[in-house]
Amino acid sequence: MKDEIAAISDELREALDSVSSESGLGTLRVAYVGKNGRVTSLLKQLGGLPAEERKEAGRLVNGLKGEVERLLAERAVGLQSAALEAELQAEWVDVTLDPAQHRVGNLHPTTRIQYELEDVFVSMGFEVLDGPQVETEHFNFEALNIPANHPARDMQDTFYLEDGNLLRTHTSSIQVRGMQRLRPPFKIIGPGKCFRCERLDASHEATFHQMEGMMVDRDIKVAHLVYFMKTLLSHIFGREEEVRLRPGYFPFVEPGFELDIRCLICAGRGCPVCKYGGWVELLPCGMVHPNVLRAGDIDPSEYSGFAFGLGLDRLVQMRYGIEDIRHLHSADLRFLRQFSH
Ligand code: DAH
Repeated sequence: MKDEIAAISDELREALDSVSSESGLGTLRVAYVGKNGRVTSLLKQLGGLPAEERKEAGRLVNGLKGEVERLLAERAVGLQSAALEAELQAEWVDVTLDPAQHRVGNLHPTTRIQYELEDVFVSMGFEVLDGPQVETEHFNFEALNIPANHPARDMQDTFYLEDGNLLRTHTSSIQVRGMQRLRPPFKIIGPGKCFRCERLDASHEATFHQMEGMMVDRDIKVAHLVYFMKTLLSHIFGREEEVRLRPGYFPFVEPGFELDIRCLICAGRGCPVCKYGGWVELLPCGMVHPNVLRAGDIDPSEYSGFAFGLGLDRLVQMRYGIEDIRHLHSADLRFLRQFSH
């Protein structure tokens, strides 16, 4: 019996070394100290032994039972702490938030396009101007040849404040502010947020972004306008996109044009963004109206100029293939993170 006791102890130690789960440990427990386990059956044999052997054998077998139970319990503790350690490793968080290892956000795609365009224009000698988002009627309408009661005001319905000021409907007000400060010749751009009371759809938001542009000098002609617009577009899209120029009416330019771009979302086949027309209005522009120059204290018989009002959100939509403009202000991180590089 002595030999058997030693063998059982050795085998159990070996088996415990290779057990790696709670259920494996349970199986071992049954095999050794279960109802028909090896230690249990030794205990049962004790009753059949002669009285003089029984005492010594009983001591040995009970000693074995104690040892087996201790080994099983030790292994159980070992397995539990290994499981906890694995969990801690898997759910490890660096609470110091080292910025080199954690993302710190990224620029909004509209901001990126704005910065890129600013670089293009600055490299061509343009100055970047800013203007307030809350404007007077004078800067937003009157000085731009849109008197009160002019039907063009209907197309630019906006939000009025109690003091009579309004949220600017376009960045064209920056032209007027620019003319107050600068004397020709000058070239300016003015990016910024604009607001209108819009019916929202895939290409209209009540808050949107434009970039105004204006160049005033002697003998500025439509050819200058076309040159700068083409340069602008080839920088944005990295190649020459299909465009068309058609007459467009804006009170502050004469002649006025609409520069449309072949819809890049559907390649011109028709989709909600281009309202199934295949073209997207991207760049309204024209030759500055003499009344606007006059309002800016510039003599139209001496100077002329061109101006344009680029819709930045449309451009973002076209460049990244975004099917709905409303994503831009959704503040949805899943959307924004797509522009992290
Ligand atoms: N301000 C116009 C708008 O928001 C866009 C525009 C048209 C701007 C023609 C211009 C221009 O500078 O020449 O609808």
